[in-house]
Amino acid sequence: MKEIKTIAQFSSIINSSLDIDDVLSNSMLLIEELMEAEVCSIFELDKEKNELFFRLARYDPHGNIKKIRIKMGEGIAGSVASTGEMIVISDTKKDGRFNSMVDDITGFQTKSIVAVPIKNKGRILGVIQVLNCKRVASLDENMREVLFIVAGQVGIAMENAKLYGRLKENFVLTKAELKETQAKLLRTERLAAMGQLSHAVAHEVRNPVMAIGGFARRLKKMLPSDQLSGKYVDVILQETARLGKMVVEVERYTSLPEPELKQVNLSDLLKNAVHGWRKNQQEVATEVKIKSMSGNPEIYVDKELMKEALIRVLSNAQESMDQKGVITISTWWEGKWIIISLRDHGIGIVKEDIPRVFEPFYTSKMQGAGMGLSFVSQIVAGHGGEVKISSTRGVGTEVRISFPATRSDSSDLI
Ligand SMILES: Nc1ncnc2c1ncn2[C@@H]1O[C@H](COP(=O)(O)OP(=O)(O)OP(=O)(O)O)[C@@H](O)[C@H]1O
Ligand SMILES: [Mg+2]
Repeated sequence: MKEIKTIAQFSSIINSSLDIDDVLSNSMLLIEELMEAEVCSIFELDKEKNELFFRLARYDPHGNIKKIRIKMGEGIAGSVASTGEMIVISDTKKDGRFNSMVDDITGFQTKSIVAVPIKNKGRILGVIQVLNCKRVASLDENMREVLFIVAGQVGIAMENAKLYGRLKENFVLTKAELKETQAKLLRTERLAAMGQLSHAVAHEVRNPVMAIGGFARRLKKMLPSDQLSGKYVDVILQETARLGKMVVEVERYTSLPEPELKQVNLSDLLKNAVHGWRKNQQEVATEVKIKSMSGNPEIYVDKELMKEALIRVLSNAQESMDQKGVITISTWWEGKWIIISLRDHGIGIVKEDIPRVFEPFYTSKMQGAGMGLSFVSQIVAGHGGEVKISSTRGVGTEVRISFPATRSDSSDLI
C-alpha cells in the first residue's frame, strides 16, 4: 500500500508544475524518503554524443560534478543505460563494477547503489541512481516495480519539458496560448499517470473481488431473501458487481489501442453510434435527433473507437435526463476540424465539477464506474482532438468533440 501511495504522491508532483527542475528535484526527494536513501541523482542521455551527464545531482558541494561525462556501457550508470536493466549493488566495496571517480570529486561515500533506467516509449532517456539506501537488502519485486513506474514518469516529464521548450522557441505564442498548451500538457500527463496507477490497483483488486462475489452468490443461495441477512448479501453482490465493472473498465482503458484512421461517412458514423447505443438498452424513451450538415462529408477516424466514444456520451446524456427526453447531435466544420456536439436537457453539472468529470473514477452515480468520459477524452486525444463540456445545472449539458478530420495527404474536404 505504501508503494501505491507513493505513486499517487508522485503523480501529483509530476502534475504540479512544468518547471522540469522542480519536478525532478521533488521526485528525487520522494524517492529518497521512500527508499530511506541518503541521496539520489539523475543522469540524462546526450543522444548526439551517446554520453550520460548529471541532470540533477543532489550532492554536489563543490559545484563541479556537472562536467562529468560517462560513456554508454561504462560504469554502473552507463551499463544501465545501454542494457535498459536495473542494477542493484548492496556493497560497493565488494563489487568490481563500482568506480569511485564521482566520490573522489564530491567527497561522498557511496556504500550501495540502486540504478534504474529512465525510459519513455521504449527509448532510454537516462538513469536514476539511489545511493546508500537502507532498503537495498530487502528490495522486493513491489519496490522494483514502483521504481520502474516512477522512472517512467520522470521520463514522461523530461520529454514533455523538452517538447514545451521547443514549442516556446519555435513559435511566438501569446501568453494565453502558452498557458493553454501548458494546461493541456499537464492534463494529458496527469491522466497518463493515473492510468498507470489505476492499472496497478485494478490488478491487485481483481482476484479478491471475484472471490468475494463468488462467495456472496453461494451465501445468497443459502439464505432466505426476505431476511435482513439476505438483503445484506444483495448489497455485497451489487457492490462487487460495480467493483468488477471498474476493474474491467480500467484494464480496457489502460490498453486502449492507437486509433487506425480510415475513411468514414460522417452521417454513417453517427447513425452507427446511435444504433449501437440503442442495442444495449431495453426500452428507451430517449429520442436522438441528428441534425445533418450539408455535404455529408467523408472523414478520417477510427470507426470503432469513435463509435465507442459517442456511445459513452449518449449514455451520459440519457442518464442525466432520467432515461427520457431528446438528445440533439449537430456537426459542423471549424476550418479543418470537425465538431460533433451532443446536447441534452438533463440535470447538468455544477461549474466546479466540470474539470473533474474527465478524471478516472469521478462519478456522481450509484452504479457508475466514472470511466465513461475518461475513455471519451483518451479516444479523442488519440485523434489529435479535444473534448469540451459546457453545462448549466438544471438546464442541460453540451459535450463538444472536435478533431482534425482530414488527413494531411488528402485534399481539403470542406
Ligand atoms: N450529460 C451529462 N449530464 C450531467 N452530468 C454528466 C453528464 N456527463 C457526465 N456527467 C457527470 O460526469 C460524471 C462522470 O461521467 P463518466 O461518464 O466519466 O462516468 P459515469 O457516467 O459516472 O460512469 P460510467 O460511464 O463509467 O458508467 C458523471 O457521473 C456525471 O456526474
Ligand atoms: Mg458515463
